[in-house]
Amino acid sequence: MKSLALLLPCLLATFTLAHQQHSVRRPFSHHARALGIKPTGATNGTTAAGTVAHRAAQPNGTNSATPLDSPASSKNGTPSTPKVSGNGTSLRGSSGSNTTLNTTTTTTSSTTAGIVPVTSPTGATWPNPKPISGDGGWTAAFAKANAFVAKLTIDEKVNLTTGVDTIGRCLSNTGRVTRLNFDGFCFEDSPAGVRDTDYNSVFPSAMNVAATWDKNLMLERGAAMGAEFRGKGVNVALGPMMNLARNAAAGRNWEGGGADPFLSGVHASQNIQGIQSQGVIACAKHYALNEQEHFRGGGGKEAYSSNVDDRTFHEDQLWPFAESVKAGVGSVMCAYNRVNQTSACENRHLLNDILKEELDFQGFVLSDATAIISLYASVMNGADVNMLGFVAYGDPDEGNPATANNSYWGLQLGDAVRNGTIPESRFDDMVTRLMAAYYQFGQDKGFPAVNFDYATEETSVNGTIVNEHVNVQGDHYKLIREIGAASTILLKNTNKTLPMDFGKVKNLAILGSDAGPNPDGPNSCKDRGCDRGTLALGWGSGTANFPYLVTPYEAIQTYVHGKQPDTIIQSVFDDFDYAAVDQTASQADTCMVFANANSGEGYITVDTNAGDRNVSVEHPSDISSFYFDNQERSGFDESNLTLWHGGDDLILITASQCANTIVVLHTVGAVLVEPWYDHPNVTAIVYAGLPGQESGNALLDVLIGTVNPSGRLPYTIAKNRSDYPSGILYTVSDTSSDYIPQIDYTEKLNIDYRHFDSANIEPRYEFGFGMSYTNFSYSGLSVKMLATASSLASDQGTTQPGGITSLYADAVTVSFTVKNTGAYDGNEVAQLYLGFPASAHEPPRVLRGFERQLIKKGQSAKFSISLRVKDRYINLGHPKSGLGHS
Ligand code: BGC
Repeated sequence: MKSLALLLPCLLATFTLAHQQHSVRRPFSHHARALGIKPTGATNGTTAAGTVAHRAAQPNGTNSATPLDSPASSKNGTPSTPKVSGNGTSLRGSSGSNTTLNTTTTTTSSTTAGIVPVTSPTGATWPNPKPISGDGGWTAAFAKANAFVAKLTIDEKVNLTTGVDTIGRCLSNTGRVTRLNFDGFCFEDSPAGVRDTDYNSVFPSAMNVAATWDKNLMLERGAAMGAEFRGKGVNVALGPMMNLARNAAAGRNWEGGGADPFLSGVHASQNIQGIQSQGVIACAKHYALNEQEHFRGGGGKEAYSSNVDDRTFHEDQLWPFAESVKAGVGSVMCAYNRVNQTSACENRHLLNDILKEELDFQGFVLSDATAIISLYASVMNGADVNMLGFVAYGDPDEGNPATANNSYWGLQLGDAVRNGTIPESRFDDMVTRLMAAYYQFGQDKGFPAVNFDYATEETSVNGTIVNEHVNVQGDHYKLIREIGAASTILLKNTNKTLPMDFGKVKNLAILGSDAGPNPDGPNSCKDRGCDRGTLALGWGSGTANFPYLVTPYEAIQTYVHGKQPDTIIQSVFDDFDYAAVDQTASQADTCMVFANANSGEGYITVDTNAGDRNVSVEHPSDISSFYFDNQERSGFDESNLTLWHGGDDLILITASQCANTIVVLHTVGAVLVEPWYDHPNVTAIVYAGLPGQESGNALLDVLIGTVNPSGRLPYTIAKNRSDYPSGILYTVSDTSSDYIPQIDYTEKLNIDYRHFDSANIEPRYEFGFGMSYTNFSYSGLSVKMLATASSLASDQGTTQPGGITSLYADAVTVSFTVKNTGAYDGNEVAQLYLGFPASAHEPPRVLRGFERQLIKKGQSAKFSISLRVKDRYINLGHPKSGLGHS
């Protein structure tokens, strides 16, 4: 049976246009609030809604929730790399259990590199994962790759598929094929700019560009980043990151496109198209369900298992990856964690059944750094390239993967091919997929050589030049400033406080360390692993070195002084010097108080926050019983979502003295604003996210009205921490070393706003919310159904990269007119939410379209949002997933 029958159309869908930039917050019902819903013809023209009939649903399988289980589990007899120990090294098998079914274990004598985990599977063998086919415009690249691979020896193929350890100029490199003058591949982070080098830009975070809801800005940012990666000689840019902000406190949320699958999918697709337009291969990461830092694993460390049902996976977490494959992404990074008990990099269901078969992915699967912890299970279940190539950090002694015996692949991969354990056809497909991506993006023609060294800032080492200091910034600072301003979200603006006429300000107080510089410089903490000075990026591998960082204080002071030199501008950067704050605020007629909240990747701990934002210790009584309903989940605690450095107190003290207090926040995601958001003296709240190197300038543009704010929240800001549908697993009751922490996606489809909506919880600021300096009214909604039902039926489930071809056909066009009725030109972000009939068992509303347009004051603009077939279907399953598979 083809997948076609598994697609369940909605019988009756309600389209809701949400527009969420009211100039005054009004109390209206949660549904209306969360989704901006107003009945058609609402007096202020906020939204318009329409009801559209769809073709009949398929009778079966509407809401089944089959566990997404991998046939690679050792329960099923999969050969796996068993636990091997010696020399203090402990390696884990593929299944998460310590059973070693159908395997034999050989522990060889240790070398200087440590343990050599040689395994030779016996018993059942696995069929090859689906090889590259050349679909979707990859034919020529596939042919060139085939021709190249045909010339290679086994050792040369090993060199291209196994990383060279930490040796090499990029953070990860494959080996070379010296005989053919092929230099191998350079893999380098990050989703915010080229990491580990200089003369590069630091872009606003992905979370910020998602907050613009502007597809062009997402594309332009990708293209600018791609140009920088290319200029540095990077073949594969390790981004975008597209794990969803499922947990408000998850450390790496800011690296991705927010909490909604559709928004995140648009961001991923645009970013990839931008990066790859420059001939750089993008990498969709981390596949899949890598949505918290605690217990994430890596290098053989115990990794949690994210457990999800197939429908949730397809409709939520897989969505951005599917959009990435549709966008033609050249590589996908398999994650550290397990999915339904099986390591993501050994998970046949994820890598083969879904990615290579269902989504018809043509590129290569690259492992996260040291995420590969087996030979046979990873190779035969679908991993193609092993980054960084070695067993674990700490033994970097082997620059030639074909002879590397400190790798799960390397030498033993070559041996396994030579002795027939791994079929040469599979091995060839691994290299062919890698080389096809190389040709697909034209890297065989004039691609620059690597010109930096990730490990050192020195120009030369032992007389060899390792850093050419190539300046790749171009004029990207302009785009960075534009995105910074476009992503700024105005949450409160009483009495038209903003935009501000600084000409009327006599005494300005700028308060909080987040307004000023890190006293040691913006790059003083490795991988930005601290929280000093203004926050413009989180920490971890998702960062890059700042060329400079314009602080808010610097930008505001320069502007105000230039305009009116006798204005008093006083600052207090010590967050805890309450006497100085009190004194300064009491003298001022206008106060700007800055605060932040930070997070990052788990290999760095900042102020006891191990990647994810901390467990709350201050308010244990707030811990919701919701998280204790199940002993297995007793480690789910409530995250501390409050501002850092006593930000709440800083704001309250300022507001107690200053009748015009403007709060500016730089945060990695949602923070709780309850203690002060409705304080009468808090006249404006500006949510600036992580804006990158032009932070202060971008903020200034919004404050003074050069840019009318149009940023919209890419996640929900709750009133209480316990209002969110899931939490971080911080601790586990079973502390034995081989216990696998379990994370169940019990919220199913109800991620973020969908949970607030279905549980009828009123948020403080809803997903999609953000204000403008002007007002907009909506009219003339028209919904046009396109003739796609027949095309869906007629293609019989043929696939292209991205999945079944007809899923991507246009299905519905929704058009309407928006008028700017206020006093400022401004961008409006129209959001289209789809409501399914009750029988579909969907959340009340799901985002399925948006469009941002600049509308001059007094003028109107036509908006037109297209929904694809895919956007109005549920259960986007696959025959092999089990859904309706009968
Ligand atoms: C991260 C990846 C990153 C890689 C290389 C890993 O720890 O999870 O996102 O690309 O390191 O730095």
